[in-house]
Amino acid sequence: MLSQAVILVGGQGARLRPLTHYIPKPMLPVLNRPFLEHTVAYLRKYGITDITLALSYLPEVIQSYLGDGSNLGVQINYAVEASPLGTAGAVKNAEPYLDSTFAVLNGDIFTNLDIADMLTFHQHKRAKVTIALTWVDNPSAFGVVETESDGKVKHFIEKPSPERITTNWINAGIYILEPEVLRHVPEGSHYMFERGLFPQLLKLNEPVYGYPFRGYWLDMGTSEKYLCLNCDLLSAKVISHLIPGLNRDGVSCKADATVHPSAKIMGPAVIGSRCRIDRRAYIRGPVVMGEDCHVGEGASIERAVLWTGVHIGTGASLKQCVISAHTRIEDNEQIIGCANS
Ligand code: GTP
Repeated sequence: MLSQAVILVGGQGARLRPLTHYIPKPMLPVLNRPFLEHTVAYLRKYGITDITLALSYLPEVIQSYLGDGSNLGVQINYAVEASPLGTAGAVKNAEPYLDSTFAVLNGDIFTNLDIADMLTFHQHKRAKVTIALTWVDNPSAFGVVETESDGKVKHFIEKPSPERITTNWINAGIYILEPEVLRHVPEGSHYMFERGLFPQLLKLNEPVYGYPFRGYWLDMGTSEKYLCLNCDLLSAKVISHLIPGLNRDGVSCKADATVHPSAKIMGPAVIGSRCRIDRRAYIRGPVVMGEDCHVGEGASIERAVLWTGVHIGTGASLKQCVISAHTRIEDNEQIIGCANS
C-alpha cells in the first residue's frame, strides 16, 4: 500500500503568464477550487494521505491556504527550498518525510491514472523507479521514454528533434520511487530526475520501468490547457474526486446568485456565489464563473473561465477565454481566445 507522496510545486509557470503573476500555478482555480486541492483529493482516493509539498515558488500562498491538510482529510508536510533545487533535488529536500515507497507528482498534471495498478506493476517488476508514460501525438516538446517489451527503460530523450522520435510514449511526470534511490541525489544542489537521477540509475543498471497508461492526462502548462481542463471536467470527460457529483450538461448555480428570468444559461456551467446575470445575457457552457461576477445586459459568454469579481459590460462578448480576478470588460468589448486573458 502506498501512503506517501511528494507533489512538486516549482517553477513560475512562465507559459501561463499573466495568470500566474501573483498565484502559483497549482493554486489556479479549477471549477472554483485551487488545482492542488483536486490533486490532493485524487491522492486521498488512493489512500495516500501523507503528502509532502516540495515548494520553491510563492510557498507562503500555498502554506497559508492548505495548512496541515486536515480540512482535506490528509496530513500535509512542507519542504521549502531556499532556491529551486530541480525536480530530484526538491524530493531529496523532502527526504525527512519519506520512509517507504512513495509517489511523486508534478504539480501541474491532472490525470485519472490508476495509481494502485501502477504500484502493483512497480512491485511485480521489483522496480526502484517506475515512471508513468502517456501517449501524445507530438512528443517533440516532452521527455520521450524508450522501453524494452517488458517495460524496462532503455533511454530518455528530452525534447527530441523529429528524426530522433522513436516512440510517442512520454514521461507523464508521475513516478513511484523506492526511498533508497535518493542516496544518488546530491544534497542541496540543483538536480533533475529526467537529466540526472534517472539516466544515472540506468548507468548503474538499476531497475527503472515505464508504466504506460491510456487514461486522461493533461499538463496545465498554458492558458489553453487550463481552459481545456475546466471544460473537460464540466463536460465529465474526466472527473475530479474533489467534486465527484458534478452534473454533466447541468447548471450548478449558488443559491445566492441572481439570474434575470430573461437570461439564458446553457450548461455545463458553474456559477459562483453572489454572481449577478442581467437581462438577456447569454451563457453557453462550458463556463465557470467565480464569486461576485457581474454579467451585464445582453452580454454573451461561451466556453470561458471567469475568476472572482469579473465585470462583463453590457453587450460584451467573450469566447474561449480565461479572465483573471477583478478584470473589467467594457461595454460591447469582444474577447476571443486565450491570448487576451
Ligand atoms: P514550470 O512551468 O516552470 O512549473 O515547469 P514545467 O511545467 O516546464 O515543468 P518542469 O519539467 O520544469 O517541472 C516539472 C514539475 O516540477 C513542475 O510541476 C514544476 O513546477 C516542478 N519543479 C521544477 N523545478 C522545480 C524545483 O526546482 N523545485 C520544486 N519544488 N519543483 C520544481
